[in-house]
Amino acid sequence: MAIPFIDLGAQRERIGASIEDGIKKVLAHGAYIMGPEVRTFEANLAQFARSKHALSCANGTDAIELVLLGLGVGKGDAVFVPAFTFVATAEVVPMTGAEPVFVDIDPKTYNMDPVKLEAAIAAVKAEGRLKPAAVIAVDLFGQAADYPAISKITQAYGLFLIADSAQGFGCTIDGKQPLEWAHATSTSFYPAKPLGCYGDGGAVVLNDDALLERLISFRVHGGATPTDAATMNYVHEAKYLNVRIGMNSRLDTIQAAVLIEKLAIFAEEIALRQTVAGRYNEALDGFVSSVPYVKDGYVSTWAQYTIEHENRDGLQVFLREKGIPTAVYYPIPLHQQPGYNMFTSGTGDLGVSEAKAKTVISLPFSPYLTAETQAEIVAAVKAFRA
Ligand SMILES: Cc1ncc(COP(=O)(O)O)c(C=O)c1O
Repeated sequence: MAIPFIDLGAQRERIGASIEDGIKKVLAHGAYIMGPEVRTFEANLAQFARSKHALSCANGTDAIELVLLGLGVGKGDAVFVPAFTFVATAEVVPMTGAEPVFVDIDPKTYNMDPVKLEAAIAAVKAEGRLKPAAVIAVDLFGQAADYPAISKITQAYGLFLIADSAQGFGCTIDGKQPLEWAHATSTSFYPAKPLGCYGDGGAVVLNDDALLERLISFRVHGGATPTDAATMNYVHEAKYLNVRIGMNSRLDTIQAAVLIEKLAIFAEEIALRQTVAGRYNEALDGFVSSVPYVKDGYVSTWAQYTIEHENRDGLQVFLREKGIPTAVYYPIPLHQQPGYNMFTSGTGDLGVSEAKAKTVISLPFSPYLTAETQAEIVAAVKAFRA
């Protein structure tokens, strides 16, 4: 049987029946938009995230944009993002009128380098064109960014800190989730993500009541918040008093029903992911340029298992011929993308991101990957080296 890159079928075999029951309930009650499952899922998600609030939305990209809008980031603002991440992290910034400023990454964790962040903030201040406003740190491949160090910097400079945890939702540092340090954490429920649904979905977890009110408003067309309605003496439906320019970004009730079941086993799946990653590490360490490095006290959710190889493209072709799918996250850092190379602020020192784009390759991974299949993948990787 062909080896899938991310095996969603094994989980379906395990909890497919309860997911289908959940979907059938939605079909029976017919509240397809903002139905009761959305509220239940948001409550369960907040409990998992140990956050005061969870707000679902249409996808992980909107989740970041909603936070930027809610924080009032916009024209003239600089938002610091890693140069080595999925494009969505940077894409939302110009949508608000602000500009992304690219920051280089740590060569071992692939996450934003706090020293380079501070240098980029200094460069933006010296240039004087933009006002430093926010940092979006990314939990790349599942490992938390260095929030303790990054939050010291954001506090010192008075910047907002947003955790883009689309790949790392559920990751921890000494048992604490990124929200311990960030103003808000965003995530994606894209099917291949560690916590994925059966379509598009996303969420923001946060503790700030006033920010939540604004996110609720921005999520549905900038409708009136209770505070808006009270001050404007308005008594009709909130969505027909449009106080700000928002978007339409709701999580479908059917997706919420799917996520309720998946969230129930998510903590257990994160534990299974550690076993699978551990087996890969043990077998591949010393045979490739690098196996993933997870810092002491950090628990990754292993959205990807990413190794480095000096002949990455050769290895990819070799594995493909053996029926083993791989992926390259990411072949071009953001500052070199045609749609983004006009953003010139920052230090311009992005050499680690450029080098990593040439060597990284991600292997098949899922919490249910068996030792036998892994042995087959490992043997193929080692055969290429030989
Ligand atoms: C780091 C990162 N941020 C944001 C997103 C956007 O999520 P979505 O595809 O749900 O919009 C992704 C998804 O791939 C991601 O990997």
